[in-house]
Amino acid sequence: MAKIVNSWNDFDPLKRVILGRADNSVIPPEEPATSEKVPIDSEMRGMWGPRPTETVEKANAQLDYLAKVLQDNGVVVDRPTPLQWNQAIVTPDFRTDSGFTQMPPRDILLTVGNEIMASANSFRCRYFEYLAYWDLMGQYFEEDPEFKWTQAPRPRLTDKSYKHNYYDERITIEERLERTAAKDFVTTEVEPMWDAADVMRLGRDLFIQHGLTTNRKAMEWFKRYYPDLRVHAVNFPGDPYPIHIDATFVPLRPGLIINNPQRRLPEEQRKIFEANDWQIVDAAQPAHETPPPLCYSSVWLSMNCLVLDHKTVICEASEVHQMEQMDKLGMNVIPVPFRDAYPFGGGLHCATADVYREGGKEDYFP
Ligand code: ARG
Repeated sequence: MAKIVNSWNDFDPLKRVILGRADNSVIPPEEPATSEKVPIDSEMRGMWGPRPTETVEKANAQLDYLAKVLQDNGVVVDRPTPLQWNQAIVTPDFRTDSGFTQMPPRDILLTVGNEIMASANSFRCRYFEYLAYWDLMGQYFEEDPEFKWTQAPRPRLTDKSYKHNYYDERITIEERLERTAAKDFVTTEVEPMWDAADVMRLGRDLFIQHGLTTNRKAMEWFKRYYPDLRVHAVNFPGDPYPIHIDATFVPLRPGLIINNPQRRLPEEQRKIFEANDWQIVDAAQPAHETPPPLCYSSVWLSMNCLVLDHKTVICEASEVHQMEQMDKLGMNVIPVPFRDAYPFGGGLHCATADVYREGGKEDYFP
């Protein structure tokens, strides 16, 4: 029996990874949490249903190419089992008309050491997304005697989990930024809710973004669940739609993080990095002025790179400025085209979830 699952950060040598699939992806109908998160000017407002087949095929072609690049670099690539998302999701507490996708496993699966945990997402349409990974979890459980297969407490997602009338069509970007600064988000605090992509792992420390998809109760839950780890809540006041940390604050190797220059970590929260000689540098500007059509994310997926080891990083092939910066920071860059996959839930980091990286539970902030 072998050791299959181990990962404590996003930069130690990557050996095994789960890579999403675009099959059966749906644009979900509005629900209490999502209307707050689809930008006002997005062409996706009010629209829902299965994504056009040719866009699914193009995304899958880029995902398959990424799989090949990873394999060529010695990484074992596992793929989820697509489910039929174009059907209602019903629990005793709510009903919504469709599911979503199994493209960004990063949002659903959190790997901490020998444990992979399915998250407590706040979108109703994502309630059963973890099922796409359950065959893989079962396989790891059979093959790795130390693997801990875990499910975080499932949120009920009743109407009490959301602030109603939080969102108003007329709200301006400035007002949104004020809300982010005031830590006023659409989710309430009746139960822990969190997306795995809001959690940045650095050995003994977890840095968790408090925003539209992860609430304060989740921070408290993490503290009690991992008494041996230090949990830090982080906020990025410059982000009008704070969802997922990986296009905002991205570690490249021990001691080095790139930070979105529009969403800088506040002084107070930088102290722990400065005190331990970590460098936080502004990420390069994105090469594009707009995201691709029908995309939830911003142009800052430019910095959503996948680090293979302390010297090697996969970047999106058209992101010339980001690639140049990586080169200057001493990283070897492998360019991979990925813009066709962005609309399905994000970039290169989002599209993957760690299974095995070398290295252990380091204390980077003693
Ligand atoms: N909120 C980020 C942005 O638009 C996108 C993050 C996507 N990450 C993910 N894991 N799905 O800039």
